[in-house]
Amino acid sequence: MKNSKLWLAGVSAVSLSTLFALSVPLTALSDNNDKVLIDKANTLFKPLPASSALENTDLTPNRVALGKALFFETRVSSDGRLGCATCHNPAFYGGDSLALSVGIHGKVLPRNAPTVFNTSLLMAQHYGGNRATVEEQAFKSLLSPLAYGNTSNEQVETKLTKLGYLPLFKAAYPADEKPVSVENWSKAIGAFERTLLTPSPFDKFLKGDAQALSKNAKLGLEKFINTGCSGCHNGATVGGQSYQKFGITQDYWKVTGSTPKDALGGYDKGRFHDTKNEADAFMFKVPQLRNVAMTPPYFHDGSVDTLPQAVRVMAQLQLGKQLSDEDVMQIVSFLESLTGDIPADFAKVPRLPVAPH
Ligand code: HEC
Ligand code: HEC
Repeated sequence: MKNSKLWLAGVSAVSLSTLFALSVPLTALSDNNDKVLIDKANTLFKPLPASSALENTDLTPNRVALGKALFFETRVSSDGRLGCATCHNPAFYGGDSLALSVGIHGKVLPRNAPTVFNTSLLMAQHYGGNRATVEEQAFKSLLSPLAYGNTSNEQVETKLTKLGYLPLFKAAYPADEKPVSVENWSKAIGAFERTLLTPSPFDKFLKGDAQALSKNAKLGLEKFINTGCSGCHNGATVGGQSYQKFGITQDYWKVTGSTPKDALGGYDKGRFHDTKNEADAFMFKVPQLRNVAMTPPYFHDGSVDTLPQAVRVMAQLQLGKQLSDEDVMQIVSFLESLTGDIPADFAKVPRLPVAPH
């Protein structure tokens, strides 16, 4: 008995080595698997574009520089203390690290601040998609009572002129008769935001560099696709391209532990608040997942603290699946490959104009 087992082991060892001698070497085999995964990923995702400039609007250096100054400028807000960078901060990857943002006079906003990186590429802005472009988003924040709290466009324009912004607006919009305007304020901020793209190792992978992702990240990418995550999180921004119900298998707050949004005990109904259409109840814009590892806490209300937990919640609420610890670890590895560098021009705080006497 013992002998025959030994003999069998000998045979299989021989046939294995013959097989290896005849077939492609192991490295080539995994190269082939990588190629299949790269091709598959390219059907669902895209590398970030080199620029997100709008047609007919050049991102001229003067416009981007003005937009950057205005992004960091706090003196335009009604309490003088709040600018875009307060809630979209370089130190927190273009977010603010809070569950819910805090606006003027300490007012708490109803939602979590997403990163501003790559947002110019999303189908619309805000969780409810109530702003079409980054320019419109900036425009509407000026008179919002929670954000800038100004009472009129003229008030904003007067402030900007008093603060010494006229030369910067003139340089950015030389052909305009009235360069200091809230329209140009929004366009300049939009131009700056359109430069905030963050290519990452995943883009290298999509372009054919199989070594750009770790083994776990590749397994995670495969699971991200096969589990069904990429059904909603796809495209160049890995999300941000459709509205979907949050909580398909059950009410989201039972799993996220969210607190009600209003005194009546109602929860945030997403796009419904903007359209008042029942069909939009609990529909949210699918967030982009670029840089998601760097922007906790998660979901529209910051109700979940960690990325592994957010991944588990998603699988349960959106797909009715329970992931193993290994699945979660690998998907998180993949999501980490979506972290790009903070754009150099964003990390350095600009010099702001000094108000003329
Ligand atoms: C008080 C904090 C705060 C300030 C100040 C602020 N934001 Fe935001 N921002 C938020 C929050 C919260 C959201 C999410 C709103 C929603 O989805 O309903 C948001 C959403 C956005 C979005 C949409 C992102 C996405 O993924 O849909 C963009 C773009 C943006 N802000 C840019 C700006 C710019 C530009 C400024 C300055 C003009 C600014 N924000 C000022 C908190 C702030
Ligand atoms: C049916 C569509 C759908 C599917 C499938 C889906 N998601 Fe989501 N995902 C969403 C929506 C919508 C949100 C926003 C929910 C909210 O904040 O209100 C979201 C939010 C997230 C967030 C939080 C992002 C942030 O910045 O707060 C992560 C992380 C995430 N999804 C990962 C995944 C993973 C991993 C899978 C697969 C296990 C997955 N999603 C499957 C629609 C989907």
